[in-house]
Amino acid sequence: MKITPRNLDFHLRAARRTAAQLGILLAALSATLLSVGCMHRQSAAPALHAKATGSAIVIVSGDRQLGSPGSLLPQSLVLQVNDDQGNAVPGAVLQLAGPAGVTIRPAQALTDDNGQVTVRLTLGGISGLYPFTATSPDAHGKTVSLLIPEYAAGYQQQVGFQVNATYCSRCHDSNSTVEQVSNYDNLAVKPHAFTSGDIYNKLSHADLSNIIAHGGVAVNRSALMPAYGWTLSKPEIEAVISYIRLISDPPYRAPGLVYDKQ
Ligand code: HEC
Repeated sequence: MKITPRNLDFHLRAARRTAAQLGILLAALSATLLSVGCMHRQSAAPALHAKATGSAIVIVSGDRQLGSPGSLLPQSLVLQVNDDQGNAVPGAVLQLAGPAGVTIRPAQALTDDNGQVTVRLTLGGISGLYPFTATSPDAHGKTVSLLIPEYAAGYQQQVGFQVNATYCSRCHDSNSTVEQVSNYDNLAVKPHAFTSGDIYNKLSHADLSNIIAHGGVAVNRSALMPAYGWTLSKPEIEAVISYIRLISDPPYRAPGLVYDKQ
Protein backbone atom coordinates (compact mmCIF):
# COMPACT_ATOMS: atom_id res chain seq x y z
CA MET A 1 0.00 0.00 0.00
CA LYS A 2 1.31 3.40 -0.94
CA ILE A 3 1.81 5.83 1.94
CA THR A 4 -0.21 8.97 1.38
CA PRO A 5 -0.95 11.81 3.79
CA ARG A 6 -4.43 10.26 4.21
CA ASN A 7 -3.31 6.78 5.36
CA LEU A 8 -0.09 7.99 7.08
CA ASP A 9 -1.73 7.72 10.49
CA PHE A 10 -2.63 4.05 9.82
CA HIS A 11 0.96 3.23 8.82
CA LEU A 12 2.37 4.98 11.89
CA ARG A 13 0.04 3.02 14.17
CA ALA A 14 0.96 -0.26 12.47
CA ALA A 15 4.67 0.56 12.81
CA ARG A 16 4.23 1.40 16.48
CA ARG A 17 2.38 -1.86 17.02
CA THR A 18 5.17 -3.84 15.38
CA ALA A 19 7.77 -2.00 17.48
CA ALA A 20 5.80 -2.75 20.66
CA GLN A 21 5.50 -6.42 19.74
CA LEU A 22 9.19 -6.54 18.97
CA GLY A 23 9.84 -4.96 22.37
CA ILE A 24 7.80 -7.62 24.15
CA LEU A 25 9.58 -10.30 22.18
CA LEU A 26 12.99 -8.88 23.10
CA ALA A 27 12.01 -8.60 26.75
CA ALA A 28 10.81 -12.20 26.76
CA LEU A 29 13.95 -13.31 25.03
CA SER A 30 16.24 -11.53 27.46
CA ALA A 31 14.22 -12.86 30.41
CA THR A 32 14.70 -16.36 29.05
CA LEU A 33 18.40 -15.75 28.59
CA LEU A 34 18.63 -14.33 32.10
CA SER A 35 16.86 -17.26 33.70
CA VAL A 36 18.97 -19.69 31.72
CA GLY A 37 21.94 -17.71 32.98
CA CYS A 38 20.70 -18.03 36.60
CA MET A 39 20.01 -21.71 36.32
CA HIS A 40 23.39 -22.14 34.82
CA ARG A 41 25.04 -20.18 37.59
CA GLN A 42 23.33 -22.23 40.32
CA SER A 43 24.49 -25.52 38.91
CA ALA A 44 27.74 -23.98 37.76
CA ALA A 45 29.68 -25.27 40.77
CA PRO A 46 31.97 -27.64 38.90
CA ALA A 47 31.05 -31.28 39.53
CA LEU A 48 33.51 -32.53 42.11
CA HIS A 49 35.29 -35.76 41.38
CA ALA A 50 35.72 -37.91 44.44
CA LYS A 51 39.27 -39.13 44.92
CA ALA A 52 38.02 -41.45 47.65
CA THR A 53 34.81 -42.63 49.27
CA GLY A 54 33.87 -43.13 52.90
CA SER A 55 31.20 -45.09 54.72
CA ALA A 56 30.05 -42.63 57.40
CA ILE A 57 29.72 -38.91 58.05
CA VAL A 58 30.35 -37.66 61.57
CA ILE A 59 29.89 -34.25 63.19
CA VAL A 60 33.12 -32.76 64.53
CA SER A 61 31.49 -29.56 65.81
CA GLY A 62 28.83 -26.95 65.14
CA ASP A 63 25.55 -28.93 65.32
CA ARG A 64 22.65 -27.91 67.59
CA GLN A 65 23.58 -24.22 67.49
CA LEU A 66 21.11 -21.48 68.26
CA GLY A 67 20.98 -18.36 66.09
CA SER A 68 18.53 -15.55 65.50
CA PRO A 69 16.23 -16.15 62.52
CA GLY A 70 18.01 -15.15 59.32
CA SER A 71 21.44 -15.00 60.95
CA LEU A 72 24.76 -16.63 60.19
CA LEU A 73 25.36 -19.27 62.88
CA PRO A 74 28.19 -18.24 65.21
CA GLN A 75 30.30 -21.35 64.67
CA SER A 76 31.21 -23.21 61.52
CA LEU A 77 29.79 -26.67 61.04
CA VAL A 78 32.69 -29.13 60.74
CA LEU A 79 31.89 -32.55 59.25
CA GLN A 80 34.17 -35.51 58.66
CA VAL A 81 33.93 -38.46 56.29
CA ASN A 82 35.23 -41.73 57.75
CA ASP A 83 35.89 -45.17 56.32
CA ASP A 84 34.50 -48.32 57.92
CA GLN A 85 37.49 -48.48 60.27
CA GLY A 86 36.64 -45.00 61.59
CA ASN A 87 39.60 -43.38 59.83
CA ALA A 88 39.24 -39.97 58.20
CA VAL A 89 38.94 -40.03 54.39
CA PRO A 90 40.53 -37.10 52.49
CA GLY A 91 39.22 -36.31 48.99
CA ALA A 92 35.63 -37.53 49.47
CA VAL A 93 32.72 -35.51 48.09
CA LEU A 94 30.46 -34.04 50.78
CA GLN A 95 27.19 -32.31 49.94
CA LEU A 96 24.93 -30.37 52.25
CA ALA A 97 21.27 -29.46 51.80
CA GLY A 98 18.87 -27.61 54.07
CA PRO A 99 15.32 -26.30 54.35
CA ALA A 100 14.01 -23.36 52.28
CA GLY A 101 15.55 -20.00 53.09
CA VAL A 102 18.95 -21.19 54.28
CA THR A 103 22.37 -20.44 52.83
CA ILE A 104 25.10 -23.09 52.85
CA ARG A 105 28.67 -22.14 51.99
CA PRO A 106 29.99 -24.28 50.43
CA ALA A 107 27.10 -26.63 49.64
CA GLN A 108 29.56 -29.20 48.30
CA ALA A 109 33.27 -29.77 48.76
CA LEU A 110 35.99 -32.37 48.83
CA THR A 111 37.16 -33.33 52.31
CA ASP A 112 40.57 -31.90 53.22
CA ASP A 113 43.69 -33.76 54.40
CA ASN A 114 41.96 -34.41 57.74
CA GLY A 115 38.89 -35.81 56.02
CA GLN A 116 36.93 -32.70 57.00
CA VAL A 117 34.80 -29.98 55.44
CA THR A 118 34.05 -26.66 57.16
CA VAL A 119 30.75 -25.00 56.30
CA ARG A 120 29.08 -21.70 57.26
CA LEU A 121 25.30 -21.86 57.66
CA THR A 122 22.80 -19.01 57.55
CA LEU A 123 19.34 -19.80 58.92
CA GLY A 124 16.01 -18.92 57.33
CA GLY A 125 13.78 -16.17 58.67
CA ILE A 126 11.31 -18.27 60.69
CA SER A 127 12.18 -19.55 64.17
CA GLY A 128 12.22 -23.31 64.71
CA LEU A 129 14.22 -26.42 63.93
CA TYR A 130 16.41 -26.35 60.82
CA PRO A 131 17.39 -29.89 59.79
CA PHE A 132 20.38 -29.98 57.41
CA THR A 133 21.33 -33.15 55.57
CA ALA A 134 24.90 -34.09 54.69
CA THR A 135 25.44 -36.76 52.03
CA SER A 136 28.46 -38.47 50.57
CA PRO A 137 28.66 -41.23 47.95
CA ASP A 138 30.08 -44.51 49.22
CA ALA A 139 32.06 -47.19 47.36
CA HIS A 140 28.92 -49.15 46.40
CA GLY A 141 27.17 -46.41 44.46
CA LYS A 142 24.92 -45.57 47.41
CA THR A 143 24.96 -42.50 49.61
CA VAL A 144 25.67 -42.18 53.29
CA SER A 145 23.77 -39.39 54.96
CA LEU A 146 23.52 -37.60 58.27
CA LEU A 147 20.95 -35.21 59.75
CA ILE A 148 22.30 -32.10 61.46
CA PRO A 149 19.85 -30.05 63.53
CA GLU A 150 20.29 -26.29 64.01
CA TYR A 151 17.79 -23.87 65.57
CA ALA A 152 16.54 -20.39 64.74
CA ALA A 153 15.49 -19.00 68.09
CA GLY A 154 13.33 -16.02 68.94
CA TYR A 155 14.24 -13.71 71.82
CA GLN A 156 12.41 -15.71 74.52
CA GLN A 157 14.06 -18.96 73.41
CA GLN A 158 17.47 -17.31 73.51
CA VAL A 159 16.81 -16.18 77.09
CA GLY A 160 15.81 -19.80 77.82
CA PHE A 161 19.06 -21.01 76.29
CA GLN A 162 20.97 -18.77 78.73
CA VAL A 163 18.87 -19.94 81.70
CA ASN A 164 19.62 -23.53 80.72
CA ALA A 165 23.35 -22.86 80.37
CA THR A 166 23.47 -21.12 83.76
CA TYR A 167 21.21 -23.38 85.85
CA CYS A 168 20.11 -26.60 84.19
CA SER A 169 22.60 -28.09 81.76
CA ARG A 170 25.10 -29.19 84.43
CA CYS A 171 22.59 -31.88 85.44
CA HIS A 172 20.39 -32.29 82.35
CA ASP A 173 23.22 -32.48 79.82
CA SER A 174 25.41 -35.55 80.31
CA ASN A 175 28.21 -34.17 78.11
CA SER A 176 31.05 -32.49 79.90
CA THR A 177 32.76 -29.58 78.16
CA VAL A 178 35.91 -27.62 78.93
CA GLU A 179 33.76 -24.79 80.33
CA GLN A 180 31.42 -27.04 82.29
CA VAL A 181 31.92 -30.45 83.82
CA SER A 182 28.62 -32.32 83.89
CA ASN A 183 27.19 -33.42 87.22
CA TYR A 184 24.98 -35.99 85.46
CA ASP A 185 27.06 -39.06 86.36
CA ASN A 186 26.85 -38.20 90.08
CA LEU A 187 23.06 -38.14 90.16
CA ALA A 188 21.33 -41.21 91.65
CA VAL A 189 18.16 -40.39 89.67
CA LYS A 190 18.89 -39.39 86.09
CA PRO A 191 17.21 -36.34 84.58
CA HIS A 192 16.45 -36.35 80.86
CA ALA A 193 18.17 -34.24 78.23
CA PHE A 194 15.90 -31.36 77.13
CA THR A 195 16.11 -32.77 73.60
CA SER A 196 14.28 -35.97 74.71
CA GLY A 197 11.01 -35.27 72.96
CA ASP A 198 9.67 -38.74 73.82
CA ILE A 199 9.66 -37.66 77.51
CA TYR A 200 9.19 -33.89 77.32
CA ASN A 201 6.48 -33.77 74.66
CA LYS A 202 4.21 -35.69 77.04
CA LEU A 203 4.65 -33.09 79.78
CA SER A 204 2.21 -30.20 79.63
CA HIS A 205 3.21 -26.59 80.10
CA ALA A 206 1.76 -26.76 83.65
CA ASP A 207 3.76 -29.95 84.44
CA LEU A 208 6.96 -28.26 83.33
CA SER A 209 6.42 -25.00 85.15
CA ASN A 210 5.42 -26.90 88.34
CA ILE A 211 8.50 -29.07 88.53
CA ILE A 212 10.80 -26.17 87.59
CA ALA A 213 9.28 -23.73 90.09
CA HIS A 214 8.56 -26.14 92.98
CA GLY A 215 11.20 -28.84 92.46
CA GLY A 216 11.03 -32.63 92.20
CA VAL A 217 9.66 -33.25 95.71
CA ALA A 218 6.55 -31.10 95.13
CA VAL A 219 5.51 -33.35 92.24
CA ASN A 220 6.51 -36.66 93.88
CA ARG A 221 9.75 -36.86 91.97
CA SER A 222 13.35 -36.87 93.14
CA ALA A 223 14.65 -34.15 95.47
CA LEU A 224 17.69 -34.00 93.21
CA MET A 225 15.63 -31.75 90.95
CA PRO A 226 15.89 -28.37 92.74
CA ALA A 227 13.08 -25.78 93.02
CA TYR A 228 13.75 -22.63 90.97
CA GLY A 229 10.71 -20.56 91.99
CA TRP A 230 12.85 -18.25 94.12
CA THR A 231 15.82 -18.12 91.79
CA LEU A 232 14.12 -17.60 88.45
CA SER A 233 11.43 -15.07 87.54
CA LYS A 234 8.20 -16.26 85.88
CA PRO A 235 9.38 -14.95 82.47
CA GLU A 236 12.67 -16.86 82.90
CA ILE A 237 10.76 -20.09 83.63
CA GLU A 238 8.57 -19.43 80.58
CA ALA A 239 11.71 -18.80 78.56
CA VAL A 240 13.39 -22.08 79.54
CA ILE A 241 10.15 -23.93 78.71
CA SER A 242 10.00 -22.35 75.26
CA TYR A 243 13.67 -23.30 74.77
CA ILE A 244 12.89 -26.91 75.79
CA ARG A 245 10.00 -26.96 73.26
CA LEU A 246 12.28 -25.58 70.53
CA ILE A 247 15.04 -28.19 70.84
CA SER A 248 12.75 -31.18 71.38
CA ASP A 249 13.51 -34.18 69.18
CA PRO A 250 11.07 -35.41 67.86
CA PRO A 251 9.71 -31.86 67.52
CA TYR A 252 7.11 -30.60 69.95
CA ARG A 253 3.67 -29.93 68.54
CA ALA A 254 1.53 -27.59 70.58
CA PRO A 255 -1.74 -29.34 71.50
CA GLY A 256 -4.60 -28.37 69.20
CA LEU A 257 -7.50 -26.25 70.34
CA VAL A 258 -10.10 -28.19 72.32
CA TYR A 259 -12.72 -28.05 69.56
CA ASP A 260 -10.10 -29.42 67.18
CA LYS A 261 -10.04 -32.72 69.04
CA GLN A 262 -13.83 -33.20 69.24
C1 HEC B 1 21.22 -30.64 90.52
C2 HEC B 1 20.80 -31.27 89.31
C3 HEC B 1 19.65 -30.63 88.51
C4 HEC B 1 19.58 -29.34 88.07
C5 HEC B 1 20.61 -28.24 88.23
C6 HEC B 1 18.35 -29.24 87.34
N1 HEC B 1 17.68 -30.43 87.35
FE1 HEC B 1 15.89 -30.83 86.48
N2 HEC B 1 15.97 -32.73 87.18
C7 HEC B 1 16.99 -33.26 87.92
C8 HEC B 1 16.68 -34.64 88.23
C9 HEC B 1 17.56 -35.61 89.04
C10 HEC B 1 15.43 -34.92 87.64
C11 HEC B 1 14.67 -36.26 87.64
C12 HEC B 1 13.64 -36.26 88.73
C13 HEC B 1 12.90 -37.56 88.75
O1 HEC B 1 12.74 -38.20 87.71
O2 HEC B 1 12.47 -37.95 89.85
C14 HEC B 1 15.01 -33.69 86.98
C15 HEC B 1 13.83 -33.57 86.27
C16 HEC B 1 13.43 -32.44 85.60
C17 HEC B 1 12.22 -32.33 84.82
C18 HEC B 1 11.21 -33.46 84.57
C19 HEC B 1 11.58 -34.21 83.31
C20 HEC B 1 12.81 -35.06 83.42
O3 HEC B 1 13.87 -34.69 82.87
O4 HEC B 1 12.77 -36.12 84.08
C21 HEC B 1 12.19 -31.05 84.32
C22 HEC B 1 11.13 -30.44 83.43
C23 HEC B 1 13.36 -30.38 84.81
N3 HEC B 1 14.09 -31.24 85.59
C24 HEC B 1 13.70 -29.08 84.48
C25 HEC B 1 14.85 -28.44 84.93
C26 HEC B 1 15.19 -27.07 84.60
C27 HEC B 1 14.39 -26.18 83.67
C28 HEC B 1 16.35 -26.78 85.23
C29 HEC B 1 17.10 -25.47 85.23
C30 HEC B 1 16.34 -24.29 85.55
C31 HEC B 1 16.76 -27.98 85.95
N4 HEC B 1 15.83 -28.96 85.74
C32 HEC B 1 17.91 -28.08 86.71
C33 HEC B 1 18.13 -32.64 88.32
C34 HEC B 1 18.44 -31.30 88.08
